[in-house]
Amino acid sequence: MHALIVVGHPNAGSLTHAIANEIGNGIADSGSENSFELADLFAQGFDPRFSQDDIDAFEMKAPFPDDVLAEQKRIEAADTLVLVFPIYWWSMPAIMKGWIDRVFSNGWAYKDIDGEKVIKKLNHLKVHLVAIGGAGIGTFARHGYFGAMKLQIHQGIFDYCGVEVATSELLLLADGNDPEEHVKKAREIGAAIPAKTTKRELDMVG
Ligand SMILES: Cc1cc2nc3c(=O)[nH]c(=O)nc-3n(C[C@H](O)[C@H](O)[C@H](O)COP(=O)(O)O)c2cc1C
Repeated sequence: MHALIVVGHPNAGSLTHAIANEIGNGIADSGSENSFELADLFAQGFDPRFSQDDIDAFEMKAPFPDDVLAEQKRIEAADTLVLVFPIYWWSMPAIMKGWIDRVFSNGWAYKDIDGEKVIKKLNHLKVHLVAIGGAGIGTFARHGYFGAMKLQIHQGIFDYCGVEVATSELLLLADGNDPEEHVKKAREIGAAIPAKTTKRELDMVG
């Protein structure tokens, strides 16, 4: 199994990066047949802006820009995506949202032709989501933020393209949670990814 771990945080010394790295170590620990590549969107200088070239490709009037094609190739080489991101304004950060806007485009991730049913094109792919947030679980529950994230990200993005959200983790810093514990848990998350047996989906928000 090959995983593409995508991380959207500007600071390589951040908790988000530590968690992404440990997920990679967990995958590597789980057997020599398993491998991963880390896609550090900031370090590679990924441009998240949806430009006129992206619109032309979206409308199938032009090929995808080279940087989008390169990302699509990396995803095509993977069995599983792992998105690791800090929660900003109850969603993913702009760089990761822009990565999805540009890369998961019409014609590649799905096909939307006027008057026809949308064709999901990524049915073979799974995704594991690992979101790191500063708020407490009570805030998420009281306002339904996790439910809102699930609706938007699981259903609105991945289900639309046929990608199964295999697991979804919420790692929170409030409530006296120890960041080191999250890093430890990240290794377990990584080790469980190849088998895809552990369903860790959080459904705490009604
Ligand atoms: C612009 C911005 C928006 C944020 N919005 C949220 C939010 O909506 N919910 C939340 O729980 N934490 C929010 N946070 C806190 C971050 O999620 C938290 O600081 C981060 O995940 C910590 O990980 P790090 O040490 O890797 O940066 C926000 C932080 C920033 C900078």
